[in-house]
Amino acid sequence: MFGVSAANSPVMMMLFRDVFGSCVVLLLLLSSTGSLPPPRTSFCLNSAARRLVHFSLPDVHNTTTLLLSDDESTLYVGARNAILSLDVGQSEAMRLKKKVQWSPSEVEIQDCQYKGKNPTVDCPNFVQVLQQLNSTHLYACGSYAYNPHDAYIDAESFSMVHRDGAKGRCPFNPFERNTAVTIDGELFTATTVDFRGGKPQISRYFSKDSRPDVSLDSSLNLLQEPKFVGSSLDPADKKLYFFFSEVGKEFNFVDELRIARVAQVCKDDIGGQRTLQRKWTSFAKAPLLCQSPKQLPFNILQDMFTLQPPEGSSTSETLFYGVFTSQWSTGPESAVCVFKLQDIKTVFTGSYRTFDMNNHQWSPLTETHSYLGKCGLDNSSDFELTEVKKSFLTSSSVKPVDDGPIVVSSEQQYKRVAVMRTQAADGKQYTVLFLLTESGFLHKVGLFNRGPRVIEEIQVFTQPQPVQSIVLSASKGVVYVGTSEGVTAVPVASCSIYPSCTQCVLARDPLCGWSRTRKLCTGLDGGHENMVQSLEDGNVEEECRGETKAGGDTEIPVSLNKVVRLQCEKPSTLATLTWTSDRFTSLPEDLFIRSADGSLSFLATSSTLGTYRCEAEEGGYKETVKSYNVRQIAPPRSRTPKPKNDEQSVHESKDEPFEEIPTLQTVTTVMQPSGDKEDFDTTDKEDTFTTTLKHETDFSKENPRIETDDSLTSRTDTRSSPDLSNDTPKEKSYYGELVGVSILLAICILIMMLGLLQIGRQRKPGLKLDRLFSPDDDSKTNKSMEICSLSSPEDGAPELKV
Ligand SMILES: *[C@@H]1O[C@H](CO)[C@@H](O)[C@H](O)[C@H]1NC(C)=O
Ligand SMILES: *[C@@H]1O[C@H](CO)[C@@H](O)[C@H](O)[C@H]1NC(C)=O
Ligand SMILES: *[C@@H]1O[C@H](CO)[C@@H](O)[C@H](O)[C@H]1NC(C)=O
Repeated sequence: MFGVSAANSPVMMMLFRDVFGSCVVLLLLLSSTGSLPPPRTSFCLNSAARRLVHFSLPDVHNTTTLLLSDDESTLYVGARNAILSLDVGQSEAMRLKKKVQWSPSEVEIQDCQYKGKNPTVDCPNFVQVLQQLNSTHLYACGSYAYNPHDAYIDAESFSMVHRDGAKGRCPFNPFERNTAVTIDGELFTATTVDFRGGKPQISRYFSKDSRPDVSLDSSLNLLQEPKFVGSSLDPADKKLYFFFSEVGKEFNFVDELRIARVAQVCKDDIGGQRTLQRKWTSFAKAPLLCQSPKQLPFNILQDMFTLQPPEGSSTSETLFYGVFTSQWSTGPESAVCVFKLQDIKTVFTGSYRTFDMNNHQWSPLTETHSYLGKCGLDNSSDFELTEVKKSFLTSSSVKPVDDGPIVVSSEQQYKRVAVMRTQAADGKQYTVLFLLTESGFLHKVGLFNRGPRVIEEIQVFTQPQPVQSIVLSASKGVVYVGTSEGVTAVPVASCSIYPSCTQCVLARDPLCGWSRTRKLCTGLDGGHENMVQSLEDGNVEEECRGETKAGGDTEIPVSLNKVVRLQCEKPSTLATLTWTSDRFTSLPEDLFIRSADGSLSFLATSSTLGTYRCEAEEGGYKETVKSYNVRQIAPPRSRTPKPKNDEQSVHESKDEPFEEIPTLQTVTTVMQPSGDKEDFDTTDKEDTFTTTLKHETDFSKENPRIETDDSLTSRTDTRSSPDLSNDTPKEKSYYGELVGVSILLAICILIMMLGLLQIGRQRKPGLKLDRLFSPDDDSKTNKSMEICSLSSPEDGAPELKV
C-alpha cells in the first residue's frame, strides 16, 4: 500500500478507484454529525490486519441461536435443521465436535406448505431455543415446519431425545423473536403460542418438586403484541425479568404507540389456590424509558444484554444494556440505554395502575397495596388476587442510569449488543460495548467520561441477516456472531494493528496498551506493569515520550519525467494529513497534486527531487506517517531499443519546460496552514481542483507533443505490488493520467458539492436527524458496504479502510 507508482495506465485505474473511494468516504464522514463519532478505524470482512475466524460447513445455514457452555470451551449452535457443538477451547480456531440433524419429514413440510407457508423459507426447522438444562443435557426448541418441536440433547454424545409437540415453548414463525431461560432444570419462556403469532405467553415448564407449570392469566390481555428480546434472572430475589416492546394501551389517545417494557415473575410462583390457579400471581410490567431531553423517546427495544455486577457487589448492581430504535425514525437511528436492577426493583415495589374492565381504561390505584409485585402470594385471599389480576402495570417508568441514552447514533441501526467490563492500565474499570449493525458491522464502542467513541468497526457479514445472534465470551476475549453462512469469531481486540506508541495511545482502546518493555502495542492480560495508555484524553505527547521511533526515509528512485505518486494512508479516519517539503516553497504549488486519498503526485524533474513528508494530525498530536526521499535513478547508459520510438522523443522533450526552474531554497514549510484542520477535507479538495486544472493547461500549452500512451503491458493491479514500476526501462507518458485524475477530481468535487448541498438541505434546526442520504433509500447500508468492497480483495498489505 505504501508503494509508489510511476505513470502508466494501471495508475490511472488505481487513481480512479482511490479518488472515487475516498470521495465516498469523505461524503460519509461529512454526513456523520450525529452524537456518536464515526469509527476511528474500519476493517472490511477478511481484512488481513483484523483476522476473524470463520466456521462454516456446506450444509450449515442460519445459525440463529448461539449458546456458550459454562466453562466457555464449547459453543453450541442452533442452525437450520441441525444443532452443532464447536470446540472453542483455543480462541484461534473453531472445530466441529458434534452435529445432529433435526429436520421435519417430507410429509411435515408438505403440511406446512398446505397451510400457506413457503417450504424453503418458512418450513425448515429453525432452532430458536438452545439452553443448558442440567449438567448433562441441553434443551432445544425449533419452529419445525410451523409446528414447534423440542428435544433434549445429551451434551456429550449429542444424541437427541425427541419429545412430542412443544407448543408454547418457541414460536411457529422462524422470523419471530422469543426468549427463554433455564434455571435448575426449569424452563421459562416468553413467546407466542399459536400459528398466527397472535397469542403471547410467558410460562414455566418442567416445574420441579411436583409444583404445577404456570402461565399468564388469560382473562385479560396482559400483553399487547409484544416482541420479546431478552430475559434475565435475579438470583437474590428469585425473580425473572423479561424485556420486550409492545403496544402501550395506557396511552389510548395515541394509536399503536409502542412502549419498551420490563416484566417480572417470581421463579417459584405456583399460582393461587382458587383465583389465578396455575397462573402467575407475581406478573407485573413497567415501562422502560430511553429518551434524550426534548426528543421523542426511543421506544422500540431491539436487544438487551445483562452485565453481571463486579465480583463481591450486590446483584442490585446488575446492569441491563438495551438497544433501542424509535417508532418515529425516518432512517437508521438507534440508542443504548442502561438500566440498573435496583431501579427496576424500586419501580415494581412502587405504585400500580389498575385496569377498569368496564370502560377499558387504566387508572392509578388510589390506595397502595403492599402485596402487588411481590413473591409468595400463593396463599393470598381471593380479594387480593383479584386486585393482582387487574393491577399489573406500574405507575412509574424505569429511568435509565444517567437519565438518558449513553449512546445515540443517527447513522446506525443497531440490532444486537454485548458488553464487557475491563480493567485498564490505571486500574480503573471501563465498559466496552459491541454493537452489531443491521448491515453487518460490529462497532466496538468505548464509554469514557467525555462520551462514547467507536474504537473500531469490523465487517462480520456482507448479506443483511434477518435473524441475528451474538454471544460474548469475556474470559476468552471473543465475540461470536451467527450468520446465514456459519459462525464468525471476532477477537475483542487486535492490539498489534497499532504499529507505534502514538497509534496505540490514540486508539484509546481500554483493551490495548503500549508495553514500554516489549515496545509493542499489546493486550493487558500480561499484566499492567509498564503499560502506556491514555484513555480519557489520548495524551500521546506525554505518554509516548521516548517511545517514538524515528523512521528513516523511504528511498524512491525515479526516472525524470515520470509522474511520481507518493502514497500516504491515514492511520485513522479521525486523522488529517499534511504533506511537507522544502520543494513547496521554491516551486509553484500547482505542480503538486494532493489527492483525496492522501497521496501526493507530481512530475519527477531535477527540481522536484527531494524529501517529502506526510504528517497525520489527530487529537492535537502530529506524527510523521511516511517520509520519502525522491531521487533520480542512475540514467541508463545502454538501453535495449524499444519498439516505440515516439516514446523516446516524448521522454526527451518532457524535461525541457522544467529546466528553467530556479534552484531550490532549503526552507521547510508546511503546505497546509496548520490552523483550520477541520476544513482540511473541503478546502484541500478545492485547492487540488484548481491547481490540477492549471497544471493541465500549462502542459497542453508548453508540451504539445506529449501524447497519451495507451500501449499497456499489463493491467494487473499495481497496488498489490509495492515495487516501483518506474524501475522498468519502459517509459510511459503521463498526460492521459493527469487528465484522467483531473476529471476524476472534478467529479469528486461535484459529488462533494452535491453532498454538502444535500446536507445543507437536510439540516433542520433543532432536529438531530442529520443525514446525508435520504432516509428511505437505504443507501447508507449500501454505501458502507460499497466502501468495503471497493478495497481490492487481493491486497496483501493490511487493509485499513478509511
Ligand atoms: C436463512 O438464511 C437465508 C440466507 O442464507 C435468509 O434468506 C433467510 O431469511 C434466513 N432465515 C432465517 C429464519 O433466518
Ligand atoms: C437432565 O435432564 C434430562 C432430561 O430431563 C434427564 O434425562 C437427565 O437425567 C438429567 N440429568 C441430570 C444430571 O439430572
Ligand atoms: C400455603 O399454604 C400451604 C398449606 O395450606 C403451605 O403448605 C404453604 O407453605 C403455604 N405457602 C406459603 C407461601 O405460605
